[in-house]
Amino acid sequence: MNFQNRVPCGSLRPVDAGRMVQAAGWVDALRDHGEVIFAHLRDRSGIVQVVFDWNRAPRLRETARGLKEEFCVAVAGTVVERMPGTENPSLETGDVEIIATDLTVLNPAKTLPFLISEKGMTAGVELAGPGAVAEDLRLQYRYLDLRRPSMQDHFIKRHRIVKRVRDFLDERGFLEIETPVLTKSTPEGARDYLVPSRVHPGHFYALPQSPQLFKQLLMISGFERYFQIVRCFRDEDLRPNRQPEFTQIDLEASFIDEEFIYELMEELTVRMFAVGGIELPRPFPRMTYREAMDTTGSDRPDLRFGLRFVEATDIFRNTNYAIFQKIIQAGGCVKGINVKGQSDVLSKNVLQNEYAKQIVPSLGGKGMTWMRVAGGNLESNIVQFFSEAERQEILRRFEAEEGDVLMLIADPSYAVVTSVLGKLRLHVAERLGLIPSNTYCPLWVTEFPLFEPTEDWVTSCHHPFTAPDRVDFDPRNRDELLSLRSRAYDLVMNGEELGGGSIRIHDKKVQHKVFEALGLTPEDIAGKFGFFVQALEYGAPPHGGIALGLDRVTAMILGTASIRDVIAFPKNRSAYCPLTQAPAPVTRQQLAELGLLNLGGETVLPGMEKEGDIIDTLSWVSRIGVVESERSAIHAAVRQAERLAEKIQAIPGDGEPLFAVIDITQPPRPGTEARISPFVQSGELLKNAPALKGDYFKVANILE
Ligand code: AMO
Repeated sequence: MNFQNRVPCGSLRPVDAGRMVQAAGWVDALRDHGEVIFAHLRDRSGIVQVVFDWNRAPRLRETARGLKEEFCVAVAGTVVERMPGTENPSLETGDVEIIATDLTVLNPAKTLPFLISEKGMTAGVELAGPGAVAEDLRLQYRYLDLRRPSMQDHFIKRHRIVKRVRDFLDERGFLEIETPVLTKSTPEGARDYLVPSRVHPGHFYALPQSPQLFKQLLMISGFERYFQIVRCFRDEDLRPNRQPEFTQIDLEASFIDEEFIYELMEELTVRMFAVGGIELPRPFPRMTYREAMDTTGSDRPDLRFGLRFVEATDIFRNTNYAIFQKIIQAGGCVKGINVKGQSDVLSKNVLQNEYAKQIVPSLGGKGMTWMRVAGGNLESNIVQFFSEAERQEILRRFEAEEGDVLMLIADPSYAVVTSVLGKLRLHVAERLGLIPSNTYCPLWVTEFPLFEPTEDWVTSCHHPFTAPDRVDFDPRNRDELLSLRSRAYDLVMNGEELGGGSIRIHDKKVQHKVFEALGLTPEDIAGKFGFFVQALEYGAPPHGGIALGLDRVTAMILGTASIRDVIAFPKNRSAYCPLTQAPAPVTRQQLAELGLLNLGGETVLPGMEKEGDIIDTLSWVSRIGVVESERSAIHAAVRQAERLAEKIQAIPGDGEPLFAVIDITQPPRPGTEARISPFVQSGELLKNAPALKGDYFKVANILE
């Protein structure tokens, strides 16, 4: 078969009736009717039915009978319209079929580990989708899992999204520039994946958690607008929306402010979502971090539903209700949500026995106060402790009406109240089905704190290169540090962080102050970021940027349950790849070569245990390859050296080592004077040296 004349399976329509066509692909499904076999032939474009009919093409009988699912085949035949009543509306080609005149099995397939076909051969038959197969099995046979049309669609759309990003950013003057993968640690709050260096034993590259420092260096280089669709690596606890390696749409621009980023990213996001037929509401609203925490208890609020927090602390300032009294006196707060019209579902029993006693404690709260509005009054197990004025104010503040349910959390810690009530808000919304599907609520969250508290001091909320809102702070005053805000912003949608970025520090003094505030010593700074701080000294322009998580954006556009569904070869929940079985152990030899082998007191090097491996071992230790014809000569030399060693060992002595270290001298040749070459002074002499140390260049250990 000449593949050049192949027609895409999914392209055939009634207008093609009468055409002789050739098609190739995989057998999606088969139906054997004795004299006739029907097959669904699938390629990337879709599925078409092929008919093998012995009466019309008897010589195909044997081959057709041998077909099984997922055989790779080529067919030739005539397109015909299907008989009325036999059309398959679930196929785009369902009005036609190919009557085969030729069939070639290009490659058979073993029995499949799971069903791949997603289309029934008769109209209306539903097949179980990928969800019916254990995910690790799908990942182990990912190449088969990816044959499913629904999975292929994810990657076709992902490709289109990426293409739109490239086209749009190109339109706006951004240049796509690649940055290194073998690099130095870039702090983004996770652990680094380290890569040992063989050439520099005991030294490691870090895989980038993001290209943060390089993109800032590109701004210092004067590129003005950079972007990259870039792989990032983070060794952190896995969650459904996290992978150890993931892809960012990373960008940076000079001479800009926050408004530039908001406008650019809104347009970009709208264009990406349009690939999935989703029209986003514009303009994207903005909310400060403080407001987000105060009203939803989250820095990535889900705005698809209400249940916003109502501040109630002041209502109970003089309350007789002892629990609230104590909490408020201890500087705590009381906040609540009004679950409108749900008192039928949220009965006293559910509120008290499920929420107050079990769910809220499991969310980290000590307890929950609940009230229901019935007969114009508040009812609950504690409402009698509230004064009439307090009850009236509760009704007014929560805008409570008949049938509403109020859920309140009180705690001496603001962080506990917002965190517990935030989780409760999501729990209630999910339980009561208050979250509308196919609704998208983008949001900019702004004015994040610059630092967050740790047990001993503070750490950066974003990363240490984010500009603070003011620079006159004292880096040793913890309270002042915690009061600073940053020029950072997050793009949030439906409770998920799609991206984050900031305007950066471009002033070396401010950068030093932030490092100092983080408790870094000058040695730490020089060791970790010396190259970067130095670059800030050469006219660094004001700049800022952002990175979107491409996997998260794609998963949201396609509505998949996990980002693993939009990554061709993801790791599973334990950061393991069931397909390649990575990560995997390596040989002792590899470890030794990398300087990572702890011999643990053993004196035998790998390869030395076995007689006869001596040449291999010497070859490996010296990094000098040995060709077969040289072996016998080397063997003889080694034997000679061994005999010499034995003789020396036999000499009686006082056990002094038989080697000497001589002083390094550089005697000039007789008759010449010592002089220093001008090439040494200019640096020219060592310019091609692989690695320098002072005025010397390093050589492999074996030569030393
Ligand atoms: P940040 O750390 O917020 O910022 O990352 C940006 C976006 O990357 C995505 N993301 C992830 N996606 C999948 N798996 C992960 N493990 C993972 N971690 C992060 C998220 C997140 O919003 N250098 C800064 C950006 C900047 O300041 O310009 C950075 O990396 O969608």
